[in-house]
Amino acid sequence: MDIETIKAQIDSEIQNINSTQNLEEFRLKYLGRKGILAQLTSQIPLLPQEERALFGQQVNALKNRILSLVSEKQKSITGGPIHRKADIYDISMPGIAQELGRLHPITQVIDEICTIFNRMGFSIVEGPDIETEFNNFTGLNIPLEHPSRDAFDTFYLKGKDKLLLRSHTSPVQIRVMKSRKPPLAIVVPGRVYRPDATDASHSFMFHQIEGFMVSENIRFSDLKGVLELVARAVFGKDIKMRFRPHFFPFTEPSAEVDISCIICKGKGCSVCGRKGWLEILGSGMIHPNVFKHVGYDPKKYTGFAFGMGIERIAMLKFGIDDIRLFFENDLRFLKQF
Ligand code: PHE
Repeated sequence: MDIETIKAQIDSEIQNINSTQNLEEFRLKYLGRKGILAQLTSQIPLLPQEERALFGQQVNALKNRILSLVSEKQKSITGGPIHRKADIYDISMPGIAQELGRLHPITQVIDEICTIFNRMGFSIVEGPDIETEFNNFTGLNIPLEHPSRDAFDTFYLKGKDKLLLRSHTSPVQIRVMKSRKPPLAIVVPGRVYRPDATDASHSFMFHQIEGFMVSENIRFSDLKGVLELVARAVFGKDIKMRFRPHFFPFTEPSAEVDISCIICKGKGCSVCGRKGWLEILGSGMIHPNVFKHVGYDPKKYTGFAFGMGIERIAMLKFGIDDIRLFFENDLRFLKQF
């Protein structure tokens, strides 16, 4: 077939095309990898030398003609250029904005409290969620008969070596003290696990921040001073604090710490159960037996430790009445923080 015949054929064929699909078939017939123009091009080397240039130009001109016919036809079929699927996309519409995420309220509170401790010279350390029974219990002077060691009070993993999901962040005390020498000032944020039935104030997983300071001559008054500073920074200057005697196997003496109710300012309301006080943490002076377990001389060193529940503090701070909201990933809730 000579070029003129093909040209005539093209001109008549294009007249009859009226769908995108036919147009694509037409395009492939001529411009496809095995199409008519490719065949013509492959003939060029077979031609006598003096004819090649002219023939090449003719093939090229033909190709350009087909391209412009196709693009015109495309416009007349769909009303747009060949790549614009006008019937599907409206390119003049505004795009979908990608929403920037934000930190979870629990993470925000952890960051805020850790930053306050950090400014006072505490380092931040993290430990694993899966712990040994020694670090979670034995090293912390928690006796074998203590109820929290019971299989129903702790999530044990299958296996002989009695690994478990830590029930508090205190095992990180053991980890740090075994690997470092005093003086130490450490805070430990992290998840802890207890097989509590879930309700508005309980969750089987929640967060704590553990803190401890060990050196020569650390006293209970240091604990009070540090905690009071933190409570004021988190809840405001007018907050009152009280230390209530309590028992923890790994501290002696031990105390629970309450702050004056931030809802009723101490007068008594439903949030504080008419007491006017809210418990926020457990604390005390590190028990000499704990020091013995990690190889510290209890005659030389003293220290304090405390552990606070983050959900509790976040609930008080933001006025949230159900702990489950933190874990449901409902954006309507999370977007408020
Ligand atoms: N580990 C204790 C708990 O989870 C809190 C605590 C930490 C108490 C450190 C005293 C000292 O209840």
